[in-house]
Amino acid sequence: MKTIKDINVKDKIILLRTDYNVPIKNGKVENDLRIRASLPTINYLLENGARKIFIISHLGRPEGKENSDYTLSPVAKSLQKLLPHQTVGFYPLPNNTEFKEIPEKIKIVLLENLRFNPGEEKNDLNFIKNLVNATGAEIYVQDGFAVTHRAHASTDAIKNFLPVYAGLLIEKEIINLEKIIKNPPKPLLLIIGGSKVEDKEPLIDKFTNIANQIVVGGKIAADGYQSNNQKIYVAEDFDEDVSGNKLDIGPFSTAKITDFIKDAKTIIWNGLLGKAEDPAYATASTIIAEALGEKENSITIICGGDTTGFVENLMKNHKNLNYSLVSTGGGAALEFLLGKALPGLKAIQN
Ligand code: 3PG
Repeated sequence: MKTIKDINVKDKIILLRTDYNVPIKNGKVENDLRIRASLPTINYLLENGARKIFIISHLGRPEGKENSDYTLSPVAKSLQKLLPHQTVGFYPLPNNTEFKEIPEKIKIVLLENLRFNPGEEKNDLNFIKNLVNATGAEIYVQDGFAVTHRAHASTDAIKNFLPVYAGLLIEKEIINLEKIIKNPPKPLLLIIGGSKVEDKEPLIDKFTNIANQIVVGGKIAADGYQSNNQKIYVAEDFDEDVSGNKLDIGPFSTAKITDFIKDAKTIIWNGLLGKAEDPAYATASTIIAEALGEKENSITIICGGDTTGFVENLMKNHKNLNYSLVSTGGGAALEFLLGKALPGLKAIQN
């Protein structure tokens, strides 16, 4: 896969696709993992003399219409804080206009939510062609790993108009996720939690061949998930509320999982082990996050939006926690691990 390290970006206008689909509450970004994860590519492009970087992203699902609930304006503010030595411009999507009026000294321009235009999700050639023309972009950098499983105009149709290169985030995600699929150091442990069994079963099925041990916790286990496969350990004790709802896995199961972690050399965790948004039921997830974050000489990968958000919060107060990869790619990371072809990655390879 060709990355930005394979090209000369000096004096070039870059169109950079990121995935800034981040949680926003009361006009403020609640978890900026995906924004911070885009900084290495932005800084690389700046340091290597790019003339201007037009950043594009979607946010939520506004269904092709402008909707202030889904504006990227809070993201622009967050990005500005993270890039204190730059002025971050924030502009609407172009409407058959060119961005000539943007001062040369503004090197970073975030454009408004791509999904305000129906052309984005329809993979519309004209929509993205217009965007390319309006920005005057010469190179397209795809760094929105979390959206590469969508065949949209900015992930797929774009390849018809500009040479597409991967950014540093995509490179990092792929290198780490590939380690799991191809020749992972063994034993490999997969820890599954969360609530939707239909989302997790394909992953469990795929990993019964690859993993040495699979653990199932979270609501899936509380709801009675069962398996006859010797490799699969399903949590067997739970913390309950006064009404008898099983809201976290219990100390016996948690201790068993930490034992598996001690033995493993590659560990992938997807899905919280309890209702961790309530601190009373975050015990197992906290213990597992700490055990993984303190583990040395092994590959530790965290994926899935809820799990990465939880781990990120924990890391704010526990600076010693360290993971090989806290993946920004929710659905995309899972599809990648399942071996599915991701249109956004295919566009880069082509
Ligand atoms: C995600 O958060 O999984 C990506 O940004 C894709 O969003 P989507 O599911 O709305 O396409």
